[in-house]
Amino acid sequence: MIRLPTLAGLLLLLVALGAVGVFVWVGAAAGRPGDAAAIKRRAYRIRVGWFAVLSAVAIGVLSVVVSGYLPYPGFGYRLAPSVRTVADPANPLVVDVTGKQWAWEIERRALPAHRPITFRVTAADVNHGFGVYRDGALLAQVQAMPGVVNELTLQFEKPGAYSILCLEYCGTPHSGMRDRITVVEK
Ligand code: CUA
Repeated sequence: MIRLPTLAGLLLLLVALGAVGVFVWVGAAAGRPGDAAAIKRRAYRIRVGWFAVLSAVAIGVLSVVVSGYLPYPGFGYRLAPSVRTVADPANPLVVDVTGKQWAWEIERRALPAHRPITFRVTAADVNHGFGVYRDGALLAQVQAMPGVVNELTLQFEKPGAYSILCLEYCGTPHSGMRDRITVVEK
């Protein structure tokens, strides 16, 4: 009765001897003259073809993926259709926001679309970052600092849910410091 490890050892020995055999055969064959030019040309042609095909596929796929992130209108720029910043708003809706470890206090969460909204952002304890996201993309942000009120005026053009994420490391549960606002059509 042959034990399993012995059998495995024998198999391994056979594989190793086979590999040595291949090396010896290749070594012997390498000494013989032969015309490899035809094979080489064919291999090079195939290689050039594959390079062209793979390049075209890679460039095509990357173009489609990247175009969604280009900062130009018409190329799927995410900021343009959903929100815009307003420099000098007339009659904005003011919303007070306070960041504290580790939650947001937002005066109101249902906000009207197509009207400037001025977030007046501060913090109760340490620095936080008030980041407005939609579909995983950061749209706008302002620092939330204790003793300082920073204003960020946005006009939401797309109704729906927007996420608020903290953008300044503020303690171990920082990544859980998230909230959401809802933009409604009026
Ligand atoms: Cu608050 Cu990070």
